[in-house]
Amino acid sequence: MQEEIKSIEIITPDDWHLHLRESPIIESIFPYSFSNYGKAIIMPNLENPIIKFSQAMEYYKKIKSLITSGYKFEPLMTLFLSEETRAIDIYEGAKSGILKAIKFYPEGVTTNSYRGIKDISKMYNLLEKLPDLNIPLLIHGETANSKVDIYDREAYFLEQTVYKLRNKIPELKIVLEHITTKDSVDYILENNINTAATITAHHLILNRNNLFDEGLRPHYFCRPIVKREKHRIAVRKAATSGNSKFFLGTDSAPHFDHNKESSCGCAGIFSAPNALGYIAQIFEEDSALNNLENFISINGAKFYNLSLNSTLSKFTKFKEAIEYPSKIKVGKGLITVFNPGYPLYWKNEILN
Ligand code: NCD
Ligand code: ZN
Ligand code: ZN
Repeated sequence: MQEEIKSIEIITPDDWHLHLRESPIIESIFPYSFSNYGKAIIMPNLENPIIKFSQAMEYYKKIKSLITSGYKFEPLMTLFLSEETRAIDIYEGAKSGILKAIKFYPEGVTTNSYRGIKDISKMYNLLEKLPDLNIPLLIHGETANSKVDIYDREAYFLEQTVYKLRNKIPELKIVLEHITTKDSVDYILENNINTAATITAHHLILNRNNLFDEGLRPHYFCRPIVKREKHRIAVRKAATSGNSKFFLGTDSAPHFDHNKESSCGCAGIFSAPNALGYIAQIFEEDSALNNLENFISINGAKFYNLSLNSTLSKFTKFKEAIEYPSKIKVGKGLITVFNPGYPLYWKNEILN
């Protein structure tokens, strides 16, 4: 019997957590995003983090200038929260319509977060201004305390920091970025409607055994680190449930191979070329294709109070495995594309 070929048309998806970096990387990797998504939240952790609105504006223009004609992609800009952040930058950004969120990195927790926050309670005055501006706070939800076991850092941070912040400013929209634990899933489900989470493709696929499968796998190393199987299953259930509090944020985070395959390798997985295909495949495996549109095209836009994309995308399952580049060349350097270790059969394209 011939295998059934499935295909579905849904509203073009968005990526609610994306790292585009700077020249020369951005020129090579950005086409994988603007040709597949309608909009994306652009992370501000450049080497010189985007703290002022003028920097966000400059970055926005650079990003827009790289979009090939025929694509309607809209970059949704964010500011990096630091102790020097000024309210005026947030007001100006919100008024312009360009600024869509503020990103909170605990100091030193991940790539380029050395100017992040030591004590978030000192920022409450500023954060209290965000709800009126409809600006959510996006959180890298892990403690930077290296004494805490690396597998417990997300749950620890939730208890030590997020609970208090949530209770102090209930009307603040909070997105817990790239959640990896059952604790985070339960927390999101229990809390008010202003509490949501992004989920990556790789955290739906990998558990901590994969990171050490027959040897150390630097291209599976990201923050937050991949967790136990029970956590992966809980996060996957949340994503495929269609629940409006969960949406796709790929956290596609390119680093040069020579920086990942090193004695102190960088954290980050580059998944822009194939994340959507693998997501569709996951939803098919879990008999949840009817919830795919909620997870990748609807829930995020609704949470941010933004319009849904006006284009449709077609997702098709092929009989032959889909080819995608294993590495992208940038100058003399290479960037490895996420490969979960099994073939991909789903492909997507934006229609009209
Ligand atoms: C991201 C990066 O490299 O910018 N890395 C990662 O492992 N996720 C930063 C981040 O999102 O924490
Ligand atoms: Zn992060
Ligand atoms: Zn990220």
